[in-house]
Amino acid sequence: MRADKLAFKVFKNFVAFKTGKSSPLFASYNVTSRCNMRCAYCGWWKMEKLELPTDKALSVIDNVCSLGVSFFDFSGGEPLLRRDLATLAKRASFHNCLVSMNTNGTLLKKEDAPKIADAFDIVVVSLDGPREYHDKIRGVAGTFQKAVEAVKMLKSHGVKVGVNSVVSPWNIEILPKFVEEIRSIVDFVQVQPVHPYPPPPENKPPTEKVLALQEYLLNLKREAPGFLAVPTEFIQGFRLFFNGKTPKICDAGRLYVAIDPAGNLLACAARGDIALGNLLENSGEEILLGKVDSSQGGWVKVASCKGCWLECTVGVSMTARKPFKEAVYMARLL
Ligand SMILES: C[S@@+](CC[C@H](N)C(=O)[O-])C[C@H]1O[C@@H](n2cnc3c(N)ncnc32)[C@H](O)[C@@H]1O
Repeated sequence: MRADKLAFKVFKNFVAFKTGKSSPLFASYNVTSRCNMRCAYCGWWKMEKLELPTDKALSVIDNVCSLGVSFFDFSGGEPLLRRDLATLAKRASFHNCLVSMNTNGTLLKKEDAPKIADAFDIVVVSLDGPREYHDKIRGVAGTFQKAVEAVKMLKSHGVKVGVNSVVSPWNIEILPKFVEEIRSIVDFVQVQPVHPYPPPPENKPPTEKVLALQEYLLNLKREAPGFLAVPTEFIQGFRLFFNGKTPKICDAGRLYVAIDPAGNLLACAARGDIALGNLLENSGEEILLGKVDSSQGGWVKVASCKGCWLECTVGVSMTARKPFKEAVYMARLL
């Protein structure tokens, strides 16, 4: 990935966005629905096992990259379950994208680390708290230890490594202490509230705990704006999110898109049911222009969606609306 070419693409994405054109800045490809974890709040591991063979996955990546995407993320399911992951990531890199991955980190083998490190610019490892919290939430003992080992391995190979923590009633109290503990071993942290939205009662932490976390994170953002890799307004929305009162901030299918394991272009990563068309049958451009069969009602579902509060959707929208405010974080990525 060449920094100057990427910077130019980001600039073009922003200009297109400001002038009301569809030009996705960010794409997330869920390369497999298989997962080796049993996370309490996630439904991927209960889904039908699905993924495209390498040649078709590469064609889907080419198709989406031809839209001028700047940031290309690999997720799932668990992306490291795919043996061809580095090949897929390299293809997005070939298109001058900044290439990242979301992983639980548990499947990274020492012998594979150099290849993975070479293929990815950024890796975000999921960690929801210290060992006893993380292993309980993920449903598999030993997960925390393996994730931390993956962080260290990738860092030693020069990858920019971050942690993503999902905020839920089960970890909200210990998150500030946990973030302080991992500050010395990672480049950045992301935090995002547990979905769906609006939250069901069992997902709502007590208000005073949400406010305490918000206060800690806002202080951290002031002190180390590049380390806390979500916009300030994103943090400010936590209380509203858990009360079901966040505004709908949505640029799905315009500023960001996602790809499901079957090669469908989704309007966003937040909702697997909002398919706009299939990338093996149509070009991404035709799909985004609405020139394909719309019987699944993708755009209607986008319009009637109640919204979400995820870093890969709302966080991207906030950054694109105020790019200079978030310049510190953006500059670190480039
Ligand atoms: C679906 S996972 C897939 C990638 C990989 N298996 C992992 O665990 O990082 C991507 C990210 O979404 C987060 N996630 C899963 N379910 C969520 C939910 N209900 N609300 C918010 N984030 C969630 C995970 O913790 C992880 O950081």
